[in-house]
Amino acid sequence: MAEKDTGHMSSSIIRIEDVTKVFHSRKGNVEAVRGFSLDVHKGEVVTLVGSSGCGKTTILNMVAGFIRPTSGTVFLEDSPINKIEPRCGMIFQSYALFPWLTVKENVEFGPRINGIPGIKRNDEAGRYIDMVGLEGFEDSYPGELSGGMRQRVALCRALANEPDILLCDEPFAALDAMTRQVMQQELLQIVGRSGQTVLFITHSIDEALVLSDRVVVMSARPGQVKDKFKIDLPHPRKVDIQLTDDFLALKRNIWDLVEEEVRASMKI
Ligand SMILES: Nc1ncnc2c1ncn2[C@@H]1O[C@H](COP(=O)(O)OP(=O)(O)O)[C@@H](O)[C@H]1O
Ligand SMILES: [Mg+2]
Repeated sequence: MAEKDTGHMSSSIIRIEDVTKVFHSRKGNVEAVRGFSLDVHKGEVVTLVGSSGCGKTTILNMVAGFIRPTSGTVFLEDSPINKIEPRCGMIFQSYALFPWLTVKENVEFGPRINGIPGIKRNDEAGRYIDMVGLEGFEDSYPGELSGGMRQRVALCRALANEPDILLCDEPFAALDAMTRQVMQQELLQIVGRSGQTVLFITHSIDEALVLSDRVVVMSARPGQVKDKFKIDLPHPRKVDIQLTDDFLALKRNIWDLVEEEVRASMKI
């Protein structure tokens, strides 16, 4: 089911065009990403999978505008990204919450910075907090919550900014297996309703298959596109989809490719 390259589509919201990134450090130069191209269409969930160190975070950081490509261009709609991009919200693996602010204050932080008036801010924060099942915890501090609850707050905080694009860097990696599956379902529901575009990174092929419209397998560093898969599994994708023949066939296929690259990166 490898995907045909459809070339430029007018509905692309993110266009990564022949991007290479070389880091210069005291130890020398590291080519993290080489000649990487990818179009992400509006409303799509696209996931990058690949071995550790293959350049996934580097790609996300270039889309967010945190760092610049060494060559090539990342476009948001038709404009090259050359500063931190306010239309992108980022969710990291570590929760990145402010420990001295309550749940509600954390969620309201972005809208407050953006000058959203108090009442509107309050309503919206409440709505997101309810949506992820944290009603009753508005005034708790992150230190009083479990890992799963903290990651839900982090998700709320990213969503409260209403970004057109959600960039997710292994956000569920630290969660236990059951919490992780619940979070995947919540994310799918939220972005399904809002029509947001998601660029997601995970080590888990299961997670990639549950969440994605397309999966991009990256080669070992320097990260290139090794293959792309269109995931035509039906929605809603509940946990039991992982037992279907179609799911397992895709999983085997993607795993074989990832395994080759993990071995290449370990030189075994
Ligand atoms: N700021 C940096 N300076 C030097 N090397 C970096 C920097 N950021 C990432 N790298 C290197 O680039 C490669 C890709 O890193 P990264 O994008 O974090 O990989 P991944 O997220 O796929 O695990 C790694 O070899 C990493 O050590
Ligand atoms: Mg990473």
